[in-house]
Amino acid sequence: MSEKGEKWTFLHVNDSHMGTPRSFRFRPAVNRRWAAIKQQMADTEAELLIHGGDLTRDGDIHEFEYQQAQQDLETLPFPSFVIPGNMDVGNKHTLVNGVKRKWEQRGLGWNDPDLNMTSERLDLFASWFGPIHWTFQHRDVRFTGFYAAVAGTGLPQEERLWQMLERLPQLPKTQHHVAMMHYWPFMEQPNDPAWDLTDPDQYDNWYFSIDPPHRQRLWDLLQKAGVDILFCGHVHTGRSVQDVDGIRIYRTPAAGNTSQLAERWTDADTRFGFQRCEVTPSEIDVAFVPGNDQCDEFDSYGPMGHPSAEKRDYSIAREQPAIQ
Ligand SMILES: [Fe+2]
Ligand SMILES: [Fe+2]
Repeated sequence: MSEKGEKWTFLHVNDSHMGTPRSFRFRPAVNRRWAAIKQQMADTEAELLIHGGDLTRDGDIHEFEYQQAQQDLETLPFPSFVIPGNMDVGNKHTLVNGVKRKWEQRGLGWNDPDLNMTSERLDLFASWFGPIHWTFQHRDVRFTGFYAAVAGTGLPQEERLWQMLERLPQLPKTQHHVAMMHYWPFMEQPNDPAWDLTDPDQYDNWYFSIDPPHRQRLWDLLQKAGVDILFCGHVHTGRSVQDVDGIRIYRTPAAGNTSQLAERWTDADTRFGFQRCEVTPSEIDVAFVPGNDQCDEFDSYGPMGHPSAEKRDYSIAREQPAIQ
């Protein structure tokens, strides 16, 4: 390790969504964009990588994709610290069965309540990648990663999230504190309203952010923990850095999967890439590095969205044996 005070680098990336032709669906372009980004990261002199989730296309139903993503990250010349995304472990919970019925009546065609995350799936992810919530110190930076979408589920993993966040202020002080989550904490501001997922005009806001009152509790704890920088992905669209209550929020573009909601914001960045973060004693300079391969979609097959089990046809897999 080099001397204290010297500049050093870490990397952040999210939403690589590596898929497989052994599945009921596959988008080769996503793998190709990610492969280029991974090579560029490997060529950067960095000490570690933090990955903000959605490593897989369908890891929430295919354990094979955990193995594939793990072996892929192991080819990097520095360690990776990973949190899950919803495509790895399942979605944020919907509250009541009534919601699903209302959805179906409105013909929205989504079936997310059946794809809610479970404690078992979160544990399975952790068995491959380590704890889903973690904090550690490297040099003079504390890194804290967590899957905030467990908030409100009542699962054991939710209790562990709050315990960890509440303990952060008691841990050894560092010059910088970098936090990472998968969902956006809020769309625009911490006091955004509670979004109604049964209203088609509000559904996206609900889907992409954390609900009150968990959102405010989380935000308060991040401030108390002295977080300077918060990375979040999930939307696959980059926006200008936002400073809220002294925390710089980086809503980052994806490392392979397609941008969403980009029409909403004039500053939306739909390119694929990663963040190179240069650390000095006084600051962390975050720069977006676009991927060298911004290829268009090609040779994709299978359904988009969150298809239910009966809509997944493995007989169309391009590579055999198909995933069981
Ligand atoms: Fe994603
Ligand atoms: Fe996601």
